[in-house]
Amino acid sequence: MSFLYKNILKPILFLIDPEVIHDLFVSFGEFLGKFGVTRSITRFFYGYKGKDISKVVDGIKYRTPVLLSAGFDYNGRLTEILPEIGFGGEEIGSVTAHPCAGNPKPRMTRLPNSGSIIVNKGLKNDGVDVLIERLKKTLAHGGKSGAGEAPFVLGISIARTNDESSVDVQAGINDYLYSFKRLNEEGIGDYYTINISCPNAFGGEAFTTSDLLTRLLMRLATIPCKKPVYVKMPINLPWTQFRDLLKIIDFYKLQGVVIGNLNKDYSSLGVRAEAPDEYAGGLSGVPCRQLSTDLIALTRKTYGKRFTIMGVGGIMSVTDACEKLEAGADLVQLITGMIFEGPELVSEICEGL
Ligand SMILES: Cc1cc2nc3c(=O)[nH]c(=O)nc-3n(C[C@H](O)[C@H](O)[C@H](O)COP(=O)(O)O)c2cc1C
Repeated sequence: MSFLYKNILKPILFLIDPEVIHDLFVSFGEFLGKFGVTRSITRFFYGYKGKDISKVVDGIKYRTPVLLSAGFDYNGRLTEILPEIGFGGEEIGSVTAHPCAGNPKPRMTRLPNSGSIIVNKGLKNDGVDVLIERLKKTLAHGGKSGAGEAPFVLGISIARTNDESSVDVQAGINDYLYSFKRLNEEGIGDYYTINISCPNAFGGEAFTTSDLLTRLLMRLATIPCKKPVYVKMPINLPWTQFRDLLKIIDFYKLQGVVIGNLNKDYSSLGVRAEAPDEYAGGLSGVPCRQLSTDLIALTRKTYGKRFTIMGVGGIMSVTDACEKLEAGADLVQLITGMIFEGPELVSEICEGL
């Protein structure tokens, strides 16, 4: 299957606009997830069938420690099919209080020689209320269990609506608060991630300063929440500033961090000439790998077991996943590796672990 994907399907797919392919795959995946027979066929070809590698993290059992990272299934349409290709969970979103059309196109540009994608999606999504209704319907007909004993874990990533209205700090905080409150009221999601580090939103990464993160977490702490809460971290901050954010996250007793988001530094590309001269969006894939692994290792070394760490960025192989786990990650997440190497990468990683 891997040979077919890399040598026949991928060269064709890579000729077509990435967003068109992405939308097509999401619709196809949603269709496959709807019927028992299509789920079984998918599992037969792509499912993880090895020994038990389930893991309990913050009281949640993951059937495998590999998750789909935020941004691929941003409207929560793939919950029924992802368990069949080896994922132990996914991070839906990032979802925002209001529906959001995203940035003007192009929102995704492949950089095949650098193993990366320029992402300028700008938090396109249907909004939290639509997501809640969709997930309620899916969950009502048992739509996240898939095969195996442990249920498929649904994390929900929450961001601030990407428009002029939420650039104001107070409006931005209220935006996060609305989604967080609604999800908690409805009991939707197994854990929540507060995404403070989207590099392509109106007003930039407003909540990655100590002062503003404090204000945000102080308000979120007023909402009763029984689920684990994590923060999605930026990876372009120097360690001292990164550590200052960790101190605040520790103070507000959040369970952990997702390390981390896209890379804003184009000089880290394998082939710099592949990307435009001007910044056009954050880089996924290989350019994230070392930066995120280093920050995972430093966080683990400094804080011991205090934080749960989800390791993400540039996992394109079993070795990359093992590096993140060895650096101190409890679980790993990926997107770009699945696009470049094919969906079989997920089960390959599970087998390699
Ligand atoms: C198309 C695309 C959209 C993304 N959108 C989001 C998002 O909405 N929220 C978020 O926290 N991260 C988002 N990300 C970042 C990923 O979750 C991840 O942190 C990053 O891509 C590094 O992982 P990777 O190298 O495995 O792709 C997006 C990434 C991609 C490729």
